[in-house]
Amino acid sequence: MLSEAAVSDRRHSMFSSDSALRVIARVGLTPRRGFRLIRRLRHDAAVSVMKRHYELPPLTLECLTSSSGTPESPILDDICLPPHVAGEHDDVGPLLTIARHLQPAVVVELGTAHGNTVANLCRVCPSARVYTVNALGEEQTGAYVTYVLDRADIGRVYRRYGFADRVVQIYSNTLTVELGRYLARDSVDLAIIDACHDTEYVINDFHKTAPLVRAGGVILLHDTHPSMRAHLGSSYIACMKLRRRGFDIRHLTGTWWAVWIKPEGVDGPNRQMRRQSEKACTISDEAPRL
Ligand SMILES: C[S@@+](CC[C@H](N)C(=O)[O-])C[C@H]1O[C@@H](n2cnc3c(N)ncnc32)[C@H](O)[C@@H]1O
Repeated sequence: MLSEAAVSDRRHSMFSSDSALRVIARVGLTPRRGFRLIRRLRHDAAVSVMKRHYELPPLTLECLTSSSGTPESPILDDICLPPHVAGEHDDVGPLLTIARHLQPAVVVELGTAHGNTVANLCRVCPSARVYTVNALGEEQTGAYVTYVLDRADIGRVYRRYGFADRVVQIYSNTLTVELGRYLARDSVDLAIIDACHDTEYVINDFHKTAPLVRAGGVILLHDTHPSMRAHLGSSYIACMKLRRRGFDIRHLTGTWWAVWIKPEGVDGPNRQMRRQSEKACTISDEAPRL
């Protein structure tokens, strides 16, 4: 594996400031546009170096759950997952198949939106209690945020379907939320990261949820795809950065989901955890199973 410093050295050697200035002069760009272009090229070069070393290995749903079907149609009100919005592939079926297979007692979701996913999870997992986080519009930060919502709209679907008594709604920015006030360590069976998709937010959200997840529990990260088209890139980069830190995150084939199954012996987001997880989550060809 390349260290963070080695990746950074390669990136800088490709674009020294002298060669950058020569390129700007040759193509007749203004310095402002030229430097913007260089920043973009540096970013793309860093990403392609990262991708060569930390691309997420594929994992199929069949391999994960020994199942591929979507037996019943989901609640569709305000649904925010492909194929109902954005993409033509199916992200709802695999999510609900995993949930049905796991039958979690405790679920955490970052990014409630209108509460469609919570409603569907409550329906297919009758014993689940769901903790779900969404910032109120005025407290929300980040770029790839999908919605800016007020209190009445956050979670309205699960309330409409009568699931409110199984849901703890947390109105908070994920950067500042203290999930430890609601949940004990190693108590969560399934976590879904689907709030702000900016790279640093996804990394923050992963490190906040990972210590709460039990060994064998699952974290799913949405809008993560190797094409890295548009909004799919920043979460994919976050997952590659997490892989570089030793977390064996994989891409669920044919979907916009990434998956991490917590191994035994991995703890909170501190140095000790990193050391343990580097040992525990070695990148192997052996597919994890639920
Ligand atoms: C993609 S939507 C979630 C969709 C939802 N999981 C569903 O299936 O219906 C993302 C949500 O995250 C919320 N959000 C964005 N940035 C946030 C942040 N920094 N903290 C908390 N919530 C945030 C947005 O308000 C939006 O409702």
